[in-house]
Amino acid sequence: MKPAAVHARLTSFLPPTPHPPPSSSLSTSFRLNYWKWRCCASSIESETSDSSSRTDSSGVFPPWFSVAPMMDWTDNHYRTLARLISKHACLYTEMVVAETIVHQQDNLDRFLAFSPKQHPIVLQIGGSNLKNLAKATQLANTYNYDEINLNCGCPSGRVAGHGCFGARLMFDPKFVGEAMSTIARNCDVPVSVKCRIGVDNCDSYNELCEFVDVVASNSPTRHFVIHARKALLNGLSPADNRRIPPLKYEYYYALLRDFPDIKFTINGGITSIDQVNAARRQGADAVMVGRAAYNNPWSTLGHVDTTIYGAQSTRFSRRQVLQQFQIYGDSLLLENDEKRKPNIRQLVKPLLNLFHSEPGNGLWKRKADTALRNCKTIELFLKETLPAIPDHVLDSTILKTPDSSSCSDDFADVLQLLPPPYTNSKQKINSCLM
Ligand SMILES: Cc1cc2nc3c(=O)[nH]c(=O)nc-3n(C[C@H](O)[C@H](O)[C@H](O)COP(=O)(O)O)c2cc1C
Repeated sequence: MKPAAVHARLTSFLPPTPHPPPSSSLSTSFRLNYWKWRCCASSIESETSDSSSRTDSSGVFPPWFSVAPMMDWTDNHYRTLARLISKHACLYTEMVVAETIVHQQDNLDRFLAFSPKQHPIVLQIGGSNLKNLAKATQLANTYNYDEINLNCGCPSGRVAGHGCFGARLMFDPKFVGEAMSTIARNCDVPVSVKCRIGVDNCDSYNELCEFVDVVASNSPTRHFVIHARKALLNGLSPADNRRIPPLKYEYYYALLRDFPDIKFTINGGITSIDQVNAARRQGADAVMVGRAAYNNPWSTLGHVDTTIYGAQSTRFSRRQVLQQFQIYGDSLLLENDEKRKPNIRQLVKPLLNLFHSEPGNGLWKRKADTALRNCKTIELFLKETLPAIPDHVLDSTILKTPDSSSCSDDFADVLQLLPPPYTNSKQKINSCLM
């Protein structure tokens, strides 16, 4: 890598902290702030109109923008990269199945350890066995995550079919309430659910409300992440289940109207910071982005600190980001413990999207292919591949906010499409008796 004066603000990015992680003051203050985010009744308007009011006195931000949990994608290596680009985005882990945690008690760091720099960070767990969920939460609690989230949205056959969890759990809201109570009892951080707007034919707005209502009434869950398309459990692959069922953002906005005491994060099909802002202008509590944050991390995450949080950007160039990533990656490759040592392909995987749509991107990927066959360190990998990228791309920083003339109006009509307000079963019976 071309020698460049390492900026004074650059601090080394350490690999995942082995258990037990040092308790960090950032984590503690994030929890306080998170609680405030969940409880405060102030409107988005007052949260966003004045940038000085976007943090509490701890200087830590609520999770207005988060990166979605994505199996095989949002691992420690990706999250390290993401944190170098955005200091404030909330990061979710990949789903970790409760049984994995319970059965790998001698090897927990592999699944649960992370660098304290990754705060705010949410652990997503999967499962449907209460005893295992309880034990897994207890074990995970010592790692200092900022929230624990239960996966109620995964449609894959292995999870929702054979495993009987993920999206299948939406058929049984009472059980999810019980599971969330169990998780909450075994940790000391907030708990949340990530779900679809429906499953198979159980897909009316009222059924979605019943799910939220029953889960919230039977547990301390006050935060739901809503992937705004339903899941089809038979016949569609997980990838098709993220593409084919239509997005119904109107269901999400109706939830905000019908459950004013609960926080909802909108997810699904949001591909740019313009759209994130548009969703927030329309009143969304918070926005979660998945594929765009992975496939184009620089453009998606690079604007989060400035545009969403009104804070300074890291002012890193991609050259500086890569220098920091190299320190992280090469220290892991030097690891003596073979169990903890990743292979270079795993480490490099999230870097491969860093120059999305930039000049030299095609050549960089071809060079990466060759370099991965013979390079043993990230330093050598970067030395062999980066000549493909022009200096002006490597050295530019994200300073500009996205062009406001291209303001997205994707959510402009959504309030006209809202379904009728939710009436729960008890209300229905009462109105029949009147
Ligand atoms: C490769 C991949 C893996 C995923 N794994 C998970 C997962 O472990 N848990 C989960 O709740 N959702 C998972 N999802 C779904 C995402 O969290 C998100 O809900 C979905 O991609 C829609 O958001 P997007 O349109 O912004 O990508 C995954 C998505 C992808 C692309």
